[in-house]
Amino acid sequence: METEMNSLYETFPSQIASLWKEGKDLKEYFEEVVSSLNASFDPYDWVGIYLVEGENLVLHSFRGDPTQHTKIRVGEGVCGWAAKTGETTVVPDVSQDKRYLMCFPETQSEIVVPIKGKNGVLGEIDIDSSRLSAFTELDSRMLEKITDHLALAIESEKRIG
Ligand code: SME
Repeated sequence: METEMNSLYETFPSQIASLWKEGKDLKEYFEEVVSSLNASFDPYDWVGIYLVEGENLVLHSFRGDPTQHTKIRVGEGVCGWAAKTGETTVVPDVSQDKRYLMCFPETQSEIVVPIKGKNGVLGEIDIDSSRLSAFTELDSRMLEKITDHLALAIESEKRIG
């Protein structure tokens, strides 16, 4: 079981990359990314993609329950922290983190991985889990590869659009 999971962690970023082609609708790509992450990894109970728009992070696609936090100021919450610092941010126990903005009462841990473009943070993937300490280095490294693909897609759409 563990080996199967390890190989999923290895192959998943290239699966995500293969879903993108130049000219594809970005929203459609985001929908595929959040739904496949949510469906493929048991602890990933809520998966969202926020994009930086001015001083805010705006929620573009998600799987899981709707959240009131569809717009978060850069610098606020765990999401805003990751956008401001450009660092992957893992919160093993949200009840112990002062930055945390609550979305769902069942959430126990969270990971936020910035989407880094050539000139700064373009957005982020945010994942909530109802398990404590759900996210390890394996998750960080895999999700960072995925955000690299998302950055390429976003920047290629900007070139075309
Ligand atoms: N918990 C986040 C807010 C977004 S929800 O998890 C979807 C935060 O602290 O920024």
